[in-house]
Amino acid sequence: MGDAATPLPSSTSRSILIFVLVILIIPQVLLCEGDNDVQYTACSHSFNCGTITNVTYPFWGGDRPHFCGLEGFELECHEDEYPILEHREQKYGVLKIDQHLHTMTIVRMDLMDDTCLHEFRNTSMMDSTLFNMTPAVKSLSIFFGCLGTSKNISNEFECLYNDSRKSAFFMDENFLEREIQFDITSCIISINVPVLQSALHDLRRGESLQKALNQGFNVQYSDQPECLACTSSGGLCGSNSSSSSSSFTCYCCDKPYARTCNHPGTFFW
Ligand SMILES: *[C@@H]1O[C@H](CO)[C@@H](O)[C@H](O)[C@H]1NC(C)=O
Ligand SMILES: *[C@@H]1O[C@H](CO)[C@@H](O)[C@H](O)[C@H]1NC(C)=O
Ligand SMILES: *[C@@H]1O[C@H](CO)[C@@H](O)[C@H](O)[C@H]1NC(C)=O
Ligand SMILES: *[C@@H]1O[C@H](CO)[C@@H](O)[C@H](O)[C@H]1NC(C)=O
Ligand SMILES: *[C@@H]1O[C@H](CO)[C@@H](O)[C@H](O)[C@H]1NC(C)=O
Repeated sequence: MGDAATPLPSSTSRSILIFVLVILIIPQVLLCEGDNDVQYTACSHSFNCGTITNVTYPFWGGDRPHFCGLEGFELECHEDEYPILEHREQKYGVLKIDQHLHTMTIVRMDLMDDTCLHEFRNTSMMDSTLFNMTPAVKSLSIFFGCLGTSKNISNEFECLYNDSRKSAFFMDENFLEREIQFDITSCIISINVPVLQSALHDLRRGESLQKALNQGFNVQYSDQPECLACTSSGGLCGSNSSSSSSSFTCYCCDKPYARTCNHPGTFFW
């Protein structure tokens, strides 16, 4: 009958086989294919706005609740065109996010359409604890409410200041050496704005200040090392909304964990 060559599994080994299958497969089916953790499901949504897509932790906003990101990284979609990020009561338009390099290209909203300001503020991003300027970013100073030169110099423009026409000037350290043809002390107020190194070159070639500012500037944020461990274990990074200190939380398909997902299936990935 050939019973020696192909023995049927005994009931014991069949039980072991089923047991192993249960251990291997069932937890993953139950934990990851069925009713997922509510917060896990919420954080699986990405943020999308205009040309900026697939944005995840540490950013939140839109379909992503606060617990999917960190304080200071809220994005709000502006007229379906681009996201806005607010930093210390100053609004920035986000032109680009590179989630691999952890950089953003942003532009001050108040300077986007008009280089003549009504409210004079320095740039909050320049002394931020969350964001650092990248090396390609330089500081440009803009002076308002100045006496004009009548010399038609390239870094002079006109703005209303307190309802009267006044001159304004912009310059970086190189302009300072090169063409300081106006009296800074005549100016009422100044602000510092970050610009890209390349925008400074464009300015010296006669490009408009508006165009230079609209290129934005780059800031870097922390690479959030704890997030990598979480995502490699199959989790989604977030923060603990019920904790006052808003500590890091790894949202996994079964439930939230402090660092990484450690449901039984993890071992076999
Ligand atoms: C967004 O991410 C998903 C999954 O990672 C990918 O399939 C998709 O192509 C991405 N979309 C864009 C526009 O990058
Ligand atoms: C901006 O900063 C510069 C130098 O740090 C300072 O001289 C200027 O008064 C500041 N401007 C405003 C509007 O606070
Ligand atoms: C100022 O200079 C620009 C070119 O740099 C020229 O087009 C413009 O006519 C000049 N304006 C006056 C008032 O001289
Ligand atoms: C604005 O102009 C008025 C009248 O010319 C003057 O009294 C006031 O001090 C000016 N304010 C500033 C901030 O320069
Ligand atoms: C979130 O914070 C609360 C209060 O601090 C704590 O009890 C809970 O265990 C935390 N949850 C996670 C997933 O870390």
